[in-house]
Amino acid sequence: MQTTTLGKNGTPVTALGIGTWAWGDTLFWNYGKVYGETQVEEAFNAAIAAGITFFDTAEVYGLGTSETLLGQFMQNNPEKSVNIATKYGPAPWRLFGNSVTDAVTASLKRLQVPSVTLYQVHWPFAFLMSQETLLNALADEVQQGRIKAIGVSNYSAAQMRESYEILKKRDIPLAVNQVQYSLLHRKIESNSILKTARELGVTILAYSPLAQGLLTGKYTSKRKIKPDGARKIDSRFSDRGLTKIKPLTDLVQELSDRYDKTPSQVSLNWLISQGDIIPIPGAKNAGQAIDNAGALGWSLSPEDIAKLSEVSHPWL
Ligand SMILES: NC(=O)c1ccc[n+]([C@@H]2O[C@H](COP(=O)([O-])OP(=O)(O)OC[C@H]3O[C@@H](n4cnc5c(N)ncnc54)[C@H](OP(=O)(O)O)[C@@H]3O)[C@@H](O)[C@H]2O)c1
Repeated sequence: MQTTTLGKNGTPVTALGIGTWAWGDTLFWNYGKVYGETQVEEAFNAAIAAGITFFDTAEVYGLGTSETLLGQFMQNNPEKSVNIATKYGPAPWRLFGNSVTDAVTASLKRLQVPSVTLYQVHWPFAFLMSQETLLNALADEVQQGRIKAIGVSNYSAAQMRESYEILKKRDIPLAVNQVQYSLLHRKIESNSILKTARELGVTILAYSPLAQGLLTGKYTSKRKIKPDGARKIDSRFSDRGLTKIKPLTDLVQELSDRYDKTPSQVSLNWLISQGDIIPIPGAKNAGQAIDNAGALGWSLSPEDIAKLSEVSHPWL
């Protein structure tokens, strides 16, 4: 299994993780209607069987349900050791460092583990708690062993650098910045996030790497399949939106035919081929988990990577 590290010399993890926002989330993803606990447990087990042992969650996903389900699934399938990345939500009412301690305690309890591989700050607004207080509280958790590595999410290049400098004073590296990155969202290449991450040795975790389904080949103006949940009102999934991305989705489909891979695997492989990007595609069932795991272990040719980069240029 292809592995990489969280940060330059950090914990080794599989070069692709599984995102679990949809596990328990009713607001955006409609959990409990067209899929539920049985399907997501099958996704967990299928990912493990396919060699993927890295899972991304957050305390806020399904208001704790995603972590609780992951905890249950790990208990039910204890053979493989699993790397969990979870997240802290810096809410306005969380004023002091002990909010971090309490949040870590609650996450570990739901996950039924003594420690997590990665703990990320979900967004950059710390409100009244300074980044200094927040990151030092996290550094204390690293020293106590409840968190193996610290990450941030949705941080700009400048915010990432500031966090890196604060943690450096504690001799702790900033391991990751988790940001949106896909063929249909390449902003991190033009706003210095990717460049700065590489300079600082911070790994990028690419969220929504399938553009929430747009890069899976399932949603096309021809096939008329409509997405479930909040995506129903997302204009990117309208006929007009799908027509706009057609040059790219046509190329992804052409490559998927030529390589005998699925469109999802081609789209994820474009990210993985860069060598230092870990995509964390969401999977709602075993089929999606197996399909996404199949993005590893092969590579698009440099010419085809360049072609994808060229056709996805409008989303840079
Ligand atoms: N840090 C943050 O602020 C943040 C924000 C967003 C996401 N995330 C993380 O990133 C993860 C992934 O992002 P995401 O869930 O937004 O988007 P995504 O991974 O781009 O898309 C996931 C959706 O695409 C469809 N899908 C996935 N694999 C498929 C396959 N092989 N074939 C066909 N359809 C497939 C499924 O929906 P359908 O089957 O219903 O189409 C699935 O729910 C999340 O679970 C979460 O862990 C983090």
